[in-house]
Amino acid sequence: MKEVKVFAPATIANLVCGFDVLGLCLCEPSDIMHVKLMDEKRVVIHSADGSSLPSDPSQNTAGAPLLAMIEEMDLELGFDLTIEKHIKPGSGIGSSAASAAGAVVAANHLLGNKLPKEDLVRFAMLGEKVASGVKHADNVGPCIYGGVTIIRSIFPLDIISISAPPLYITVVHPQIEVRTSDARQILRKEVLLKDAIRQWGNIAGLVAGLMKNDYALIGRSLEDVIIEPVRSMLIPGFDEVKSKSKEAGALGGGISGSGPSIFMLSQNIVTAQIVEKLMQDIYKKIGLPFHTYVTTINTEGVKIEEVTH
Ligand code: HSE
Repeated sequence: MKEVKVFAPATIANLVCGFDVLGLCLCEPSDIMHVKLMDEKRVVIHSADGSSLPSDPSQNTAGAPLLAMIEEMDLELGFDLTIEKHIKPGSGIGSSAASAAGAVVAANHLLGNKLPKEDLVRFAMLGEKVASGVKHADNVGPCIYGGVTIIRSIFPLDIISISAPPLYITVVHPQIEVRTSDARQILRKEVLLKDAIRQWGNIAGLVAGLMKNDYALIGRSLEDVIIEPVRSMLIPGFDEVKSKSKEAGALGGGISGSGPSIFMLSQNIVTAQIVEKLMQDIYKKIGLPFHTYVTTINTEGVKIEEVTH
């Protein structure tokens, strides 16, 4: 049976001011998945590295979208998936999205690429529902489309890809797990009008800054007056990472997705590496294990390779 190998990249949702509406695809890290068609109507999931993944496909972020695809497309076949996780669950850089997006892009390829990207996002969002209890597309969108995406609406889906200038992204993942469902639960359900106005200004400024290659405008717009003040309390070292990164020349940044990872954008690699070093120093001082990455924007999204036996 035909088999594909898929690289499903990490993503940064929200981009500070755009809660649930902005997202960006990273070159590193990526999950790797091997997906095969099966002549039985079911989904089988294996973990390549022995990490514990829910084996019931309906409870698995990659499995649930595939079950929905089988149902909706009235398929008489199924999928066998082997997942090699490199993006830690609960890290805030789109672990569940990578599993879901990688699975649907691979399945679509095996079926002759019949579905447009928008349908793939619609199916992949079912994986996010399994992971966090709600559908959101600001990780699966950029994972499937690549680059920077705006999720103008999820019902109906309206996804816009926008251009961006070269940016270097430094990510630090302090090794604590923040579940997206918990990080959503703690948010206030109402927003003050004055905060909403400030946030709208920042979102518009960030989108314009990215499209006009205006680094100063990007930096000024990386401000979140609604979500960050609440969620940053879950992340040791957050304020210090942010203020020292900006002093070192980063344009700005904040919580990646629902955290605990923190990301900073820089205009050049030297600054991005200085930021990486200071992040490492901060978490060594705190005594918390961490991972760091210095990477760039992945304009391609999920990548497929045919496997020949
Ligand atoms: N927009 C989502 C949130 C992303 O912040 O809850 C989760 O990765």
